[in-house]
Amino acid sequence: MIVLGIETSCDETGVAVYDSERGLLADALYSQVTLHQQYGGVVPELASRDHIRKTLPLIREVLDEAGCALGDLDGLAYTAGPGLAGALLVGASVGRSLGMTLGIPTIGVHHMEGHLLAPLLEANGPEFPFVALLVSGGHTQLVEVPQIGSYKLIGESLDDAAGEAFDKVAKMLGLPYPGGPHVARLAESGTPGRFDFPRPMTNRPGLDFSFSGLKTYTLNTVAEHTVDGLLNEQTKADIAWAFQEAVVDTMVIKCRRAFEHSGMKRLVIAGGVSANMRLREKLAHMAKAEGGELHYPGFAFCTDNGAMIAYAGCMRLLAGQQDDLSILARPRWNLETLPKVG
Ligand code: KG4
Ligand code: ZN
Repeated sequence: MIVLGIETSCDETGVAVYDSERGLLADALYSQVTLHQQYGGVVPELASRDHIRKTLPLIREVLDEAGCALGDLDGLAYTAGPGLAGALLVGASVGRSLGMTLGIPTIGVHHMEGHLLAPLLEANGPEFPFVALLVSGGHTQLVEVPQIGSYKLIGESLDDAAGEAFDKVAKMLGLPYPGGPHVARLAESGTPGRFDFPRPMTNRPGLDFSFSGLKTYTLNTVAEHTVDGLLNEQTKADIAWAFQEAVVDTMVIKCRRAFEHSGMKRLVIAGGVSANMRLREKLAHMAKAEGGELHYPGFAFCTDNGAMIAYAGCMRLLAGQQDDLSILARPRWNLETLPKVG
């Protein structure tokens, strides 16, 4: 089955063609980062307008690259939520209308299911069951995944998402948006141990996260060391190191607990923050020490992309699921309410 996937939930237009027989045939991404950078974050109306400009050209591009005509498509998948309402509506309108015109089954995909299944695009992807740590700009969730389409939320952030915390700390350090990769790069030249930041919610039981206290702690540290409006470059790097280390250690502790809680020893990380090398390194070490294993997507498939949507849509379409003619845009959508697959 050849499926076209369209992702427009936030600030990247992603389009891909996935074939259940041959794998990923083509994948194209247009990032709006430079458009939003001057505002220090995503401006929803500008995002929607830019998706309108890019979605159709990207569809043509991936079809060309895949060597497919529109008539070769067997199914269509678009991101139906969660995300920005206007941005979602662009992909949903194009996807649903194209699916209807071509007379092919069409499905609205949950963005976080896309992220969660992205590691399965890799050659040696994880087997089921597993525990997933979803860490993106909008979500931090621990999910038990007995099989594809079955998701049980066992922990989540009570306030900021992990990526959001990285982005806000980046702003405090004067780094551009989106800040996660910049904080990570700066942390590489940080002095281990100069600052020791708290590991939030780790000294009481439970699998939930909270990053707002850590954010305030970081802000206070920045303020304490700012002299005449200036923060020394080495101090900036040392703060980046301490912040990243605190986030990573917190996640390691919670993931170890999730192993105990679920009895599973296979961990999948996905979403933008899963691109973080320190997180991968420390979680891989923990999983190995527990006799388990860690899986993550390739770098291109950690942040938003069309391939994960084409893949997740393909799995559901293969199982006989499809939507009616409604154009679905669900800014809020609980992952646990998705229909099971198979
Ligand atoms: O999954 P994603 O592309 O978008 C959402 O669904 O939200 O995640 C974007 C987030 C941003 O907050 C970005 O700063 C963060 O992922 N991110 C990182 C890294 N790369 C991206 N955070 C920490 N370290 C990284 N290397
Ligand atoms: Zn995402």
